[in-house]
Amino acid sequence: MKIIRSLTAMAAWSGGLVRKDVKIGLVPTMGALHEGHRALIRAARLRCDALVVSIFVNPAQFGPQEDLAKYPRPISQDRALCRKEGVDICFEPTVEAMYPKGFQTMVTLPAIAHRWEGAVRPHHFSGVATVVTKLFGIVRPRIALFGQKDFQQSALIRQLVKDLNLGVEIVVNPTVRETDGLAMSSRNVYLSPDDRIRAVTLYKGLQAGAEAIRRGITDAETVRSAMVQVVKKEPALTIDYLSVCDPYTLEPLPAVRSRVVLLGAVRIGSVRLIDNLLTTPPRRSS
Ligand code: PAF
Repeated sequence: MKIIRSLTAMAAWSGGLVRKDVKIGLVPTMGALHEGHRALIRAARLRCDALVVSIFVNPAQFGPQEDLAKYPRPISQDRALCRKEGVDICFEPTVEAMYPKGFQTMVTLPAIAHRWEGAVRPHHFSGVATVVTKLFGIVRPRIALFGQKDFQQSALIRQLVKDLNLGVEIVVNPTVRETDGLAMSSRNVYLSPDDRIRAVTLYKGLQAGAEAIRRGITDAETVRSAMVQVVKKEPALTIDYLSVCDPYTLEPLPAVRSRVVLLGAVRIGSVRLIDNLLTTPPRRSS
């Protein structure tokens, strides 16, 4: 595996392969790689000829009060995981190279970027869309993989690729969970041992919503109440949102008629956790 830090070296490597029609796959990450990333890398490996994993803690997607400085950066472990999984290039650009003096252009996003995560983190998705667009321009992948855990992010990236004709196939890989069900996240390391145990309540809340839908409940407010009731049982958790949404527009729905996404975000101590479940209602017999 080769480590590339310079943007020109990365673009030259990719350019050479694109000319030979080699299918490049990209897994964009901010490092602190866990089993969820491993699953993304493995899924990518099966779908491309040359695999690039980018590791870049993107300052543009962090708000001023957020955890940019303390975001985990275990680079040797990350490289070891990539090496073991047969990654061809670990692309580790510097902040100065990605955002040089005079950098000005940011990608603006549609309305769905302003709800849910976007409501709490106003510039977050513009930062994500900008860095993803830059990575696509430098690495020139034919396919890129993202995790379902960041459901809204994946929906926005699909929209970005469609609207700007970026010509990259977007694959969203299912969320990888700890044995108790907690969605894997680089931020789970911030949880104290007690909060780590409590954190799974978010997933249990989402499961309660999915269970209500399976039982045939179609009123979205009743489904939402089922989720709220479970999450509220754990006083350490503060609910940011729990909602029943259309999986494409992420608009909250009044009723569950077809596939929906249950979206949730909670705070536990100073840690913010997000998760989601895609659920389809049972077929009604006529
Ligand atoms: O999901 C992430 O880790 C980041 O938001 C991404 C897509 C790598 C952009 O910085």
